[in-house]
Amino acid sequence: MAVSEEQVRDALKSVKYPGFSRDIVSFGLVKSVKIDNGEVKVQLALATADPNVPAAIKNDAERTLRELAGVQNAKVLIDIHAPPGGAGATVGTARIPGIKHVIAVASGKGGVGKSTIAANLAVALEQTEARVGLCDCDIYGPSISLMFGTRERPMATEENKIVPIEQYNLKLMSMGFLLDDTSPAILRGPMVTRYTQQFLRQVEWGELDYLVLDLPPGTGDIQLTIVQTVALSGAIIVTTPQEVALIDARKAATMFEKVNVPVIGLIENMSYFICPGDGKRYDIFGSGGGEREAKRLRVPLLGQIPLDIATREAGDRGMPIVGEDRQSEVGQAFLKIAGRIRETLV
Ligand SMILES: Nc1ncnc2c1ncn2[C@@H]1O[C@H](COP(=O)(O)OP(=O)(O)OP(=O)(O)O)[C@@H](O)[C@H]1O
Ligand SMILES: [Mg+2]
Repeated sequence: MAVSEEQVRDALKSVKYPGFSRDIVSFGLVKSVKIDNGEVKVQLALATADPNVPAAIKNDAERTLRELAGVQNAKVLIDIHAPPGGAGATVGTARIPGIKHVIAVASGKGGVGKSTIAANLAVALEQTEARVGLCDCDIYGPSISLMFGTRERPMATEENKIVPIEQYNLKLMSMGFLLDDTSPAILRGPMVTRYTQQFLRQVEWGELDYLVLDLPPGTGDIQLTIVQTVALSGAIIVTTPQEVALIDARKAATMFEKVNVPVIGLIENMSYFICPGDGKRYDIFGSGGGEREAKRLRVPLLGQIPLDIATREAGDRGMPIVGEDRQSEVGQAFLKIAGRIRETLV
């Protein structure tokens, strides 16, 4: 019996991306499958600075395919892409020593709640006993210092490294700690890129399980620089259920796809509002958008966060809601998301 392309793709679903519980098919690495008289040729594409990753995938995939009935021989070819051109292309992706996983929180559209999600997610991950850092990469509108209620200025070590601020057992770094209120306006284009790179590389994080990056809105040069400056384990895309936000979420997903950063999943924010007066649910920005988009992008919908007064107030007060009230609906939702992330990034 001749083996079919579907059987080959199915078999490849058992090959995990090294360090992940997700497989190479769901990460979209399989570019083509050719079958000729029992000879299977699979073309994969990925970008990584670590030579062990393609080697492990190749071995694993070839062994899996050779075990399939009807396969005489299996060859897996891997196309390792250089990151695409752009502001940060010359620098190349680097791992930050001591950090197991770097996760970027992005959105495309502004104001959908990235910083709120990044802050709460960091606190939720910390509550699962992980060592966590949070880095605000928004040079034009840093907000993490506000959400954590600190204006403390970080110190530098003798080697000229910046020491993160510690708050609620998290390590925090924000451009907001370094800039005064007027400086963003004078930083433009290439300077922002250089500044961002320097910023990301010069922080002394120490040993961390997760570093969460709060990205600025959009999918332009700055975002591209960031996602190329450090080796990311994956990205989380935040969206509201509204079509305008979904369109931009799609753009963000495309950006990560281009630089071969896997999208861990989507988080839908401002999904609904429960009116404290009558207890009724209102879908202010529509409903079902996050779920549809997650299906379209073939990534999990990690959670839905309601529009919630306490969440906004807690952020304004300088203590993310998960830290303030983990039993609340929103607190529980974030803890669940943190659990799913821990399952995905092993
Ligand atoms: N689930 C929520 N319930 C209530 N308010 C929220 C929620 N999520 C975010 N907000 C509020 O919405 C505003 C925008 O959120 P936030 O700053 O997190 O968005 P952002 O995507 O990071 O914005 P920017 O694109 O400017 O970086 C904030 O005032 C925040 O408190
Ligand atoms: Mg923000």
